[in-house]
Amino acid sequence: MEIAWNASLATGNEEIDNQHKELFSRFANLLAACSQRKGREEILNMYRFLDSYVKDHFALEERLQLQHSYPGYADHKAQHDNFIRDLKQLEYLLQDEGATLMLVIVTNQTMADWLINHVSREDVKLAEYLRRN
Ligand SMILES: [Fe+2]
Repeated sequence: MEIAWNASLATGNEEIDNQHKELFSRFANLLAACSQRKGREEILNMYRFLDSYVKDHFALEERLQLQHSYPGYADHKAQHDNFIRDLKQLEYLLQDEGATLMLVIVTNQTMADWLINHVSREDVKLAEYLRRN
């Protein structure tokens, strides 16, 4: 299964959509690096990117939800917070043990899960709500 941004994921907010596209393309880069056996080199870039990305991106989504009194705000925010916590744990592993193959594999799984279960479901739900309200 290919994991790529497509029009069905559009939220109607250009900034959010651009950030989602960026996340998908970063993930594609990581997978491409892995297939060239360069995953361990790329993983460092990925974490550097994710650090500032999640802060900016989640803040934007959460601000929008509050502005529009989104009823799913608490659940949505909890998912963001969990993802940040998971990433932090993986970053500690990176610091302690370096860019191991296991870390690359778990990072791939964590990101794929995020794109499929959060971006493609929860963010699309949010987009539908914003269109109606
Ligand atoms: Fe979100």
